[in-house]
Amino acid sequence: MRITQALSAAAFSLCIASGAHAADDLKIGFVLPMSGPHASYGLQILNGAKLYVQQHGDTVAGRKVTFLVKDDTGVAPEISKRAAQELVNRDKVDILAGFGLTPSAFAVAPLSASAKIPMIVMNAATSSVTTKSPYLLRTSMTLPQNSAPMAKWAIKNGIKNVYTLAADYGPGHDAEKQFIKTFTEEGGKIVGEVRTPVKNPDFSPYLQKIKDAKPDAIFMFVPSGEQGVAFLKGYADRGLKEAGIKLIATGDLTDEDVLDAMGDPALGLITSFHYSDAHDSALNKQYTEAYAKAYPGVRPNFMSVAGYDGMHLVYEALKKTNGDASGDKFLDAAKGLKWESPRGPISIDPETRDIVQDIYIRKVERRNGRLENVEFDVIPNFKDPGKE
Ligand code: PHB
Repeated sequence: MRITQALSAAAFSLCIASGAHAADDLKIGFVLPMSGPHASYGLQILNGAKLYVQQHGDTVAGRKVTFLVKDDTGVAPEISKRAAQELVNRDKVDILAGFGLTPSAFAVAPLSASAKIPMIVMNAATSSVTTKSPYLLRTSMTLPQNSAPMAKWAIKNGIKNVYTLAADYGPGHDAEKQFIKTFTEEGGKIVGEVRTPVKNPDFSPYLQKIKDAKPDAIFMFVPSGEQGVAFLKGYADRGLKEAGIKLIATGDLTDEDVLDAMGDPALGLITSFHYSDAHDSALNKQYTEAYAKAYPGVRPNFMSVAGYDGMHLVYEALKKTNGDASGDKFLDAAKGLKWESPRGPISIDPETRDIVQDIYIRKVERRNGRLENVEFDVIPNFKDPGKE
């Protein structure tokens, strides 16, 4: 009995000493909102990630890819943190991925740093997220990256006075700050600023105040989903459009996940964003068709593409390291990777580990029997200006 125990203990320590063998399963631990008001974030990201595996095979560099998914319920940093600790300490995942919301990414980044585990952020879009762990990479976007182009477009199109409205947390602060910076540098004037609660905001009092201030336009950011639908309804019901107040925003507002629910009040809205499911490229056509087949009745949005591209990043990095997912090797291989995404050409900035991509200016139009974000201008190869 004692001998067996000693033997198995020896075998166990041998395992540890040799590290993860290349033939072991590659475990990816996803921390995502799968329930609550942001449940669609988790669904879209996983849909994209699973579609990539379905198309490219479930084995890369000799390692079988397995997903472990933990529901962090949304804005709940303590739950995200606990979920990531379990994934790392108990499940021994090789890579952490997902992160629907900024507070979740902030809560987990220190663990990625201390355990030297690659962490692939597939949505959380506050600029500074990537600075919180040297093993963190992002395949989504940042709010400054999408807000600066919107400010430039506004100036070019005769908008002189803007009222900003932003959700009162990281990405909202970033959107507000960058929009104001670029817009005022270009000669625009900010006539009012307001921050709205992250959870369950009632937009009516803000909308009335904005109407009374009579700006040329509102620039707004709230996390994509039901809040945007409610905001647009309030904007229409309170007659801001008739009062001549335009609405401009990052494309989080007209996300394909909620665009159909918005209906006609969304027509004509101008937004800046890195992905539209109407993006005109052969690869996007292939992507949207495969997505529709795999997930009938769901339109792929920017989060799905970040999940899909996140898996591409994992596959390409592992091919370079021959299946070694240890932090330093994986990061060396991932930095500077470049590829074509369904959104257009993208790369991973080797200095910041953040994504570099084309940003499009789009208009909501009715086409092909549905509402679409139709791209009509592009700022190519745009880096996050938020870290400057
Ligand atoms: C975020 O929490 O970072 C976040 C959430 C939803 C968005 C964009 C950013 O649409």
